[in-house]
Amino acid sequence: MTAPVIASAHDLVKVYGAGATAVRALDGVDVDLVRGELTAIMGPSGSGKSTLMHCLAGLDRPTSGTVVVDGQTVSSMSERKLTALRRTRIGFVFQAYNLVPTLTALENITLPLDIARRHVDRAHLDLVVETLGLTDRLGHKPNELSGGQQQRVACARALVARPAVVFADEPTGNLDSTSAAEVLGFLRSSVDELGQSVVMVTHDPTSAGYAHRVLFLADGRLVGELRDPTAETVLAALTAIRVGTP
Ligand SMILES: Nc1ncnc2c1ncn2[C@@H]1O[C@H](COP(=O)(O)OP(=O)(O)O)[C@@H](O)[C@H]1O
Ligand SMILES: [Mg+2]
Repeated sequence: MTAPVIASAHDLVKVYGAGATAVRALDGVDVDLVRGELTAIMGPSGSGKSTLMHCLAGLDRPTSGTVVVDGQTVSSMSERKLTALRRTRIGFVFQAYNLVPTLTALENITLPLDIARRHVDRAHLDLVVETLGLTDRLGHKPNELSGGQQQRVACARALVARPAVVFADEPTGNLDSTSAAEVLGFLRSSVDELGQSVVMVTHDPTSAGYAHRVLFLADGRLVGELRDPTAETVLAALTAIRVGTP
């Protein structure tokens, strides 16, 4: 039995610029991301992690190759359809929390649904809020919350619309290790308890240890992967990649 795929890339190439200064950020990436898993993307700085995530999430167009998300071919989609897909089927979490300072946590969480005039499923909202440990923080403004709590609000905002997949680029990059552990633990819970699919870019082996699967990029190519990683096995794999890179 093959695992159900939530997003896939086929022979994905992304070249920035042209001529002598062209940068081949992705150099033929083939990958299937599994539904209901937390996948981490790792690799040295400049290896193409963000580019891969942006192409998968429909934020950037590949130079060639195919991206399919939730059964839809993103790479050849019109800008209009792409915008709709990003709005309804894809959740985003960035390093900066991007919360609205004048709104409460709850108002921030439901803002995208309110803007889209979509119904807020109260039972699902409660479940997300509970899973992210935010139940007693809903009335607080962002400046009354810790960095970890703010990032958990941003995660709840991404999850509440029930996206097919959530993409997170260095979600704990601004957090101390305790808050990072908190956010990552809750992200993993969103996968294990809510069945969410999450793809996370990180350069931190401890963060990658929360994933079901880690993909390793080097020079725009997929050079390895680990299942059920720990910080130790990730670190060993990263060291091997660096040693193997000329
Ligand atoms: N908008 C851009 N214009 C030109 N080069 C870029 C752009 N974005 C990324 N790159 C280059 O592509 C390569 C991969 O970048 P990136 O995907 O950001 O790597 P990572 O996230 O792994 O650090 C790097 O060499 C980077 O300098
Ligand atoms: Mg990056």
